Amino acid sequence: MDFKLTDEQRMIQDAARDFAEQGIKPIAAEFDVSGQFPVDTIKAMGELGLMGIEVPEEYGGAGLDAIAYALAMIEIARADAAHSTIMSVNNTLYCNGIMQYGTEQQKQQFVRPIAEGKQIGAYALTEPQSGSDASNMRSRAVLSADGSHYVINAKKSWITSGPVAKYVVLFAMTDPAAGAKGVTAFMVDADQQGFMRGKMEPKLGIRASATCEIELTDYHCPVENRLGGEGEGFKIAMSVLDAGRIGIASQAVGIAQAAYEASLEYVRERKAFGQEIGTFQMIQAKIADMKTRLEAARLLTFSAACKKMAAKQTGERFTVDGSMAKLYASEAAMWITHQAVQIHGGMGYSKEMPVERYFRDAKITEIYEGTSEIQRMVIARMETGLR
Ligand code: CAA
Repeated sequence: MDFKLTDEQRMIQDAARDFAEQGIKPIAAEFDVSGQFPVDTIKAMGELGLMGIEVPEEYGGAGLDAIAYALAMIEIARADAAHSTIMSVNNTLYCNGIMQYGTEQQKQQFVRPIAEGKQIGAYALTEPQSGSDASNMRSRAVLSADGSHYVINAKKSWITSGPVAKYVVLFAMTDPAAGAKGVTAFMVDADQQGFMRGKMEPKLGIRASATCEIELTDYHCPVENRLGGEGEGFKIAMSVLDAGRIGIASQAVGIAQAAYEASLEYVRERKAFGQEIGTFQMIQAKIADMKTRLEAARLLTFSAACKKMAAKQTGERFTVDGSMAKLYASEAAMWITHQAVQIHGGMGYSKEMPVERYFRDAKITEIYEGTSEIQRMVIARMETGLR
């Protein structure tokens, strides 16, 4: 692994950091309280090329690689996790999947506006009765008699950016008897008849990233908007999540870094018993462990991103790498933000400082795009070959 950054990687990292510092950090607390979707900053991030980092330029993206994406995600998450959630869904769950499995027409129609930041994309896999057990879905898609379109009836929950998305990659059963092999992926347009947005989720953290249920009732999806073949949907969903999990690992690193930096500043300034609290061994142990876990998480994340880049040539799966990065980085972020609250004492518990927000935001990284329990299951199944 060579971690010497290219000029392009450094450029996107700098651009993301500058925008995060100036455009996002000052408004993060306000949007956390209001829970409003940050329309203007998301649009500006699109204009900076942050919504389709790995999408080739001919489809409206920045044409960069997975390391560049991880670097930019870390910078945005360091300022505000909610912005990085919206960015991660647009980039990986939405754009990457269509770039990998879509037709030329689908790439032009569905990727370009999202990669250019003009529209928002979403990914609809989870249902009210199935989160971890993703293939156990009740959503159905039936091909019309003339073969021109599918009629989709679906209820999806926990859809990130659902309230604002123009297009959604949606998974439904075309052959329920076939289980996971009966799942098919579709491109769905939120402005078409039969698409309805449901209840909004009031959340513990990442509050400015809008989340809701979506429901499709006799929605007509033209056959050319099917993504991949019939029955290929589950593999598409899973392989897209392999990449998505590297994004969530990056997000966790960004949140953890913000909590670590705040703690470092605080222990140098805050005095107790006549001296800076950073001189106390119990605080020093926390700082040392926080820094070590933060850097280990970063390395696993970059390692997974490198494997993803190599996969373009080798065609090898990077499932275990993505799961390990997400598992470790999300648990590190939760632990580091917990320590940050403890180091700040009463101020850590107060909304006057951002550390309580980092703590709330970190929690989701252990849950979405596969819980820590699912990541452990994926890693162990692939390592042992047993199930
Ligand atoms: N890449 C390619 N193919 C894959 C794959 C991958 N990563 N993972 C599984 N498959 C294939 C398998 O090879 C198998 O195909 P074959 O039978 O041909 O070999 C098929 O898919 C079925 O796989 P499994 O038998 O392993 O399926 P399973 O039902 O046991 O479930 C699971 C596997 C790992 C538990 C999976 O259901 C899973 O990852 N669950 C978690 C779902 C999840 O992450 N949800 C998050 C929702 S999205 C979200 O959070 C977005 C957001 O808003 C931010």
